[in-house]
Amino acid sequence: MKPIVLSGIRPTGQLHLGNYLGALQKFVKMQQEGKYESYFFIADLHALTTNPDPKVLHENVKNVLAEYIAAGLDPEKSTLFIQSDVREVAELYLLLNMHVGIGELMRTAAFKDKARKQLGITVDNPDDDIEDVARQLIGNNSNKRVNAGLLTYPTLMAVDILIQKADFVPVGKDQEQHLELTRRFARRFNSFYNVDFFKEPQNFNFGGEPVKVPGLDGSGKMGKSEGNCLYLTDEDKVLRKKVMRAVTDAGPTVPNQPMAEPVANLFTILKLVATPDKVQFFTDAYNRCEIRYGDLKKELAEDILAITAPIRERFKEIHSDEEYLRRVVKRGAEQAREHARQTVEEVRRIMGIHPF
Ligand code: TRP
Repeated sequence: MKPIVLSGIRPTGQLHLGNYLGALQKFVKMQQEGKYESYFFIADLHALTTNPDPKVLHENVKNVLAEYIAAGLDPEKSTLFIQSDVREVAELYLLLNMHVGIGELMRTAAFKDKARKQLGITVDNPDDDIEDVARQLIGNNSNKRVNAGLLTYPTLMAVDILIQKADFVPVGKDQEQHLELTRRFARRFNSFYNVDFFKEPQNFNFGGEPVKVPGLDGSGKMGKSEGNCLYLTDEDKVLRKKVMRAVTDAGPTVPNQPMAEPVANLFTILKLVATPDKVQFFTDAYNRCEIRYGDLKKELAEDILAITAPIRERFKEIHSDEEYLRRVVKRGAEQAREHARQTVEEVRRIMGIHPF
């Protein structure tokens, strides 16, 4: 039996370069290697944790599906499905939550970050403890709310993974903590029931480090809520303009000067999209104080477009073929449910839920 690979992306709009370089590119590469049984899905239930407008949710799901296929995921080689089509996920989510602590969920970095955003709390250090959030939520007269779905986001993600018994879960750096929790929940379940049932999944990076793609606005990661995204579907002109506007500094004044964060970020992206000799060329130019950021940005924009423009063109075609998309998700759901059903049946039995 081949090892199982599974991963997903939350449909919150169009996919951006961070989604592609951090996750989707790895999905495609793993599929092409042919060594795995692979499952890639669209995490629409996870998108619900931030209460999207029902009018846009479906459109976002459709966009990501078409982008998956445009980027190279092939429904003949991988199981492509929509998370909410697998009803068994909801059942296992309920069951697994019986072994998940609210404290460990509250300490998750992504939760702290989102809860603070929803409550309008700003902090200097995002790793700071959670008292500020807790005080606002469970204080005497608190009328503030952070929905329970957001808190149990890691349970749901663990269920996606464990329900398919995945061995490898290719994700970006920002998801590593969730993966660590998944392993912990798996171990806890196994040891509580004294079974060797759930597998502990690992990230997968083709031997490298997990990728964190920065934004072009000076600091932080590329992200939808950061408003600094280069989208896979951006037209050439739009993308070039965004790259040319990237934040830099006044330029190095002494040889081999350490790079300021905005400049280092440009190089981080360059390394992900350009050939090593181009990276070397601009690194040398920087170190000799001869760099022209305009040239660097032009190169960067063209190298990004070499990746994204073909995806964009295929996307347009696939996105308009409703009939095809419908067939893809129908088949994907059937395949994904088959596995999921077996897992949930076993979990019910292990937990002591028996038929009369
Ligand atoms: N949390 C992931 C993200 O934000 C999406 C996701 C949901 C996921 N379930 C998953 C990723 C299971 C890998 C495996 O990108």
